[in-house]
Amino acid sequence: MRVFVTGTDGYIGSVLAPRLAREGHEVTGFDTGYYRGGWLFNDPAQFPAVPPAVCADIRRVTPEMLAGYDAVVHMAELSNDPLGESNRDVTFDINHRGSIVLAEAAKDAGVERFIYTSSCSVYGVAEDDVVDESSPVNPQTAYAECKVRVERDVGAMATERFTPVFLRNATAYGASPRMRFDIVLNNLAGLAWTTGKIAMISDGTPWRPVVHIEDIGTAISSCLAAPTEAIRGEIFNVGANSENYRIREIAEIVKEVFPECELTFGPSGGDNRSYRVSFDKIDAGLPGFECRWTVLEGARQLRRVFERIAMRGEDFEAPPYTRLKCLKQLIATGQIDDQYYWTV
Ligand SMILES: NC(=O)c1ccc[n+]([C@@H]2O[C@H](COP(=O)([O-])OP(=O)(O)OC[C@H]3O[C@@H](n4cnc5c(N)ncnc54)[C@H](O)[C@@H]3O)[C@@H](O)[C@H]2O)c1
Repeated sequence: MRVFVTGTDGYIGSVLAPRLAREGHEVTGFDTGYYRGGWLFNDPAQFPAVPPAVCADIRRVTPEMLAGYDAVVHMAELSNDPLGESNRDVTFDINHRGSIVLAEAAKDAGVERFIYTSSCSVYGVAEDDVVDESSPVNPQTAYAECKVRVERDVGAMATERFTPVFLRNATAYGASPRMRFDIVLNNLAGLAWTTGKIAMISDGTPWRPVVHIEDIGTAISSCLAAPTEAIRGEIFNVGANSENYRIREIAEIVKEVFPECELTFGPSGGDNRSYRVSFDKIDAGLPGFECRWTVLEGARQLRRVFERIAMRGEDFEAPPYTRLKCLKQLIATGQIDDQYYWTV
């Protein structure tokens, strides 16, 4: 298939795009490149498959740019809660309105599939102990609110010839050249390796579902292959029932893989938002999908990368690997304007 993938210079995209190319798809990447200043490690196995990419902003996409593609995979957004809260207006402009601009352009251009990376953060503070796709959404931040709005507005655009599908990913982890150290497992593993210390401020009892970026890739790849009737307008939580962990369990697994690290917990209380997510629907309803990774294997993978590149504290703390830090730096130095467009 001819696949147009946005966010290919990001954490998930820089691993997904070469994978889809290896699977035989003709891939074009698309990204404004906020985090191009960071490339944590090289994976020679991927070099021949890195697809060409367009450097532009999704808010300015036109139908002409999408002519001839069979599918759009849309990941280019401001990608977490703190980033979204730091400028709510721009977050709504990129994550909600930008996604609608892209989806309308795709539909006008006759693109058949539109695969959107949503997030389990739409559940927010969950009332049920275990939430599934039919549970009420309860977004707590601009980031999560935008995910809900895109699902609603792009879902309403579905026709026989336009098939949107929404993947509500659990919190991701795993090695990527465009690393993110602002997500839980990557952060704890990086701290363990560079400081030898994980000091949790809480007791770590809340539940969090997590998923490896390769398994997110499998979900996306499966959506490209599935019959359109099986996925049109559907929402799937992406992860595995066995991969719901308490935060303290994630920390303990990191300690197992980095035994030289000292691990301490704080008192209970504080942020006790806690929910588990059911992944029954994707298991039964998305042909070809299977979650292969566990937190233990993910922590081991990260350790192998850190050892190979002898990762230093300054690498771990470099702005490009913490999305909020990086954007703040781009703004402070005037490289992007107050609407987050490049100034040169
Ligand atoms: N990583 C996770 O834990 C996780 C979990 C659930 C959902 N998601 C979703 O998956 C997608 C990818 O996440 P990620 O972790 O790879 O994020 P990321 O921040 O690493 O990558 C996002 C990419 O989008 C680009 N981008 C941002 N705004 C843009 C714009 N206006 N025009 C063009 N490009 C723009 C950035 O330059 C960046 O390369 C996001 O939509 C995110 O919300 C991620």
